[in-house]
Amino acid sequence: LKVKVPEGQAKPISDKLIGVFFEDINYGADGGLYAELVQNRDFEYVAGENGRVKDWGPVYAWSVEGAGMQMSVKSERPIHENNSHYLALDVEHAGASLVNSGFDGMVIKEGEKYDFSFFGRMQGGKSGKLRVCLRDESGNVLADKTVSVSSGGWKKKSAVLRAEASSDKAVLTLSPLAEGSYELDMVSLFPQNTFKGHKNGLRADLAQAIADLHPRFVRFPGGCASHGQGLENIYRWKNTVGPLESRKPMKNIWGYHQTMGLGYFEYFQFCEDMGAEPLPVLAAGVPCQNSACIPGKLLGGGQQGGIPMDEMDEYVQDILDLIDYANADPKNNKWAKMRAEAGHPEPFGLKYIGIGNEDQITDVFEERFAMIYKAIKEKHPEITVIGTVGPFYEGTDYEEGWDLADRLKLPMVDEHYYNTPGWFIYNQNYYDGYDRSGSKVYLGEYAAHLPGRPNNIETALAEALYLTAVERNGDIVRMTSYAPLLAKEGYTQWNPDLIYFNNREVKPTAGYYTQLLFGQNAGDTYLPVECAVDNQREDVRERIATSVVRDSRTGDLIVKMVNLLPVPVKADLDLPFGTSDSSASLHVLSGKPADKNVKPVSSSLAVGEDLAYEMPAYSLSVFRISSD
Ligand code: AHR
Repeated sequence: LKVKVPEGQAKPISDKLIGVFFEDINYGADGGLYAELVQNRDFEYVAGENGRVKDWGPVYAWSVEGAGMQMSVKSERPIHENNSHYLALDVEHAGASLVNSGFDGMVIKEGEKYDFSFFGRMQGGKSGKLRVCLRDESGNVLADKTVSVSSGGWKKKSAVLRAEASSDKAVLTLSPLAEGSYELDMVSLFPQNTFKGHKNGLRADLAQAIADLHPRFVRFPGGCASHGQGLENIYRWKNTVGPLESRKPMKNIWGYHQTMGLGYFEYFQFCEDMGAEPLPVLAAGVPCQNSACIPGKLLGGGQQGGIPMDEMDEYVQDILDLIDYANADPKNNKWAKMRAEAGHPEPFGLKYIGIGNEDQITDVFEERFAMIYKAIKEKHPEITVIGTVGPFYEGTDYEEGWDLADRLKLPMVDEHYYNTPGWFIYNQNYYDGYDRSGSKVYLGEYAAHLPGRPNNIETALAEALYLTAVERNGDIVRMTSYAPLLAKEGYTQWNPDLIYFNNREVKPTAGYYTQLLFGQNAGDTYLPVECAVDNQREDVRERIATSVVRDSRTGDLIVKMVNLLPVPVKADLDLPFGTSDSSASLHVLSGKPADKNVKPVSSSLAVGEDLAYEMPAYSLSVFRISSD
C-alpha cells in the first residue's frame, strides 16, 4: 500500500463527528448509569406488559423479614401527585425489617460513604425510629445508623452510612424500633463517590468510560424511549426535572421502570462535565411508528395516530420551554429559574434539538413535525433542528424522509442503519455522492450486526473502516453515534452494545475502542489521501482504508489505517510537509475476527515525512503525530 497526502487539498470537516447515543435501554439508566442503589425507591413500579416483567408492582424489590410487621401500599395524601404510591408499615412490635434488594444486590465498598434518605411520616401522633442497615448476603452489618420518623406531614430525613466492610450483594434493611404506623416513600441510597461528586449523580466508573470516549455530543434520552410506546408513553422532559419526589416515573418502551431520577437536568450536567454538546431528541408529536409499536418491528398500515391537533400548541410550547430551561435567564423565565434552583444558574448552551426518532413519514407525522420545526425556527433560529428520515428496516427506504427534509430545507437529518460488516465494507462511498447543498447528516444510530449479534474485532473494524469514509465526508456528515451505548448483563433487550456492565464491572467492547480511538483522535480538517493498493481484487482493496485529519487545537496530524485482511499489509506513507522528525504515538487495536476481549496497545515513535509501517492483520492503527 502506498499512501500519499498531497499538500494544499485540505477541507474543513465537522469537529463533532464522534458522540454518544444514550438511551434507557438494557437498564442503561436505573440500575445502570444512574447511581441510585435502591430499586423501586418510589413504590411506583407498575405491573409489566408485553409479558416482560410479570411480577412487577409497587412493592417489587421490597420484602418484609421477621414477624410483627405488615406492609401495604397506600395512596392517600402522597408526597406529590406524580408520585402517588407509598409504603405503609403496620408494626405491632419491633423485630422485623423491611428489605430492599437493590438491582440484584448492591455493591458496597469498605471505607466508602453512602447517602441514605427517605420521606417519612407516622400516623397516630407518635414519632418512630428506624434502624437503617447495609447487610451482606450472610446478614452481617456493613453499616448502620438510626433515624427518626416524625408524626404529622411528610418529612425528608437523611443519614450518611460509612461501610465497615465490602459486599457485592448487599441489601438495605429498615427496622422499626417501636410499634406504630410508619409511612415511607423515596427511600434512597447513593454512593458519595459519583461521577464528579454530584448528588443524585452517575455511577463513577460507567460515566468515566463514556467520558473517555471524548464524545463531542450526547444524544438522549433515545432512540425509541424518546417517542415511546403509544401517546401516553411519549417521554416528556417536564416530568423529569425538579425535586425528585415530584418527577413522574414511567414504564419505558423497553418494558421496565424509569424513575426519571436521571432526567433532563442530569443529562445536561453530564454533557457539561464531559465538554459535550447536549442533543435531546424529542418526539415529533407522534409515538413510535405513529402508533403503539414494538421496537424493531414495523406495524402494518392503518394504526396511525399522533397527539390530537388541538393539543399540539401545548406540545410545541413544551419544546420551546425546554430551550428556555436550558438557555434562558433565570431572572425572567420560570423554566430557567427551575434550572437555577437545581443548582445551575448559568445556561447549558443548548444548540441542537432532534425532532422525531426514525418515525414513519406519514401525513400525521409531517403535519406535526412541520408545526414544531416552524415554531423553533421562528422563536429560536440559533437552534439547529435535526429531523429524521424515517425507519431503516427491511423493505423501507429514506425517500419520503429526504423529500420532507428537502421541502422544509432542514439543516440536518438523522439517519439510522444497522447492517452487516459486509455492508459497511462495500458502502464506504455511501456519502461521497450526497448533495452538498442539502441537509447535513447526523448518523444517529449505526452498528455492524453479525448473526448472534456479537461485538468483536470483525464488527469493530468494519465500523472503523466506515468511519474513515465518514471522516472523508465530514463536510456533509456532521455527527455520528454508535447505538446503543450501554447494556447491563442479564438485562439486555438489544445486542450488540458498546459497553456491557454489571453492578461491579464495566466491560468495554472491541467496538468501544474503535469509538475511543476515533473520539480521542478527532480532527477538524481532512487531508485527502491518494492510496495505491498493490492488488487488483476489489474485495482486497475494499478492506483497507486510510484517513488523515488535522486537529487545529493541537496542530497534530492524525493518520488512521484499517486493515480488515487476514494478512499484514506493508504501507509506505508519504506524509505532508511539517511532519519531518516528529514524535508520534501509535495506538493499535487488533485481534482475530471473533475476538471480543481486546484493547488497543499504545507506543511512541519518531516519524519523518516517509513512514514505513506494517499494518497487522485485522487491525486499526492510529498515528498521532505531534506538531513540534
Ligand atoms: O438503538 C436501539 C433502537 O434501535 C433505538 O431505540 C431505535 O431508535 C432503533 O430502532
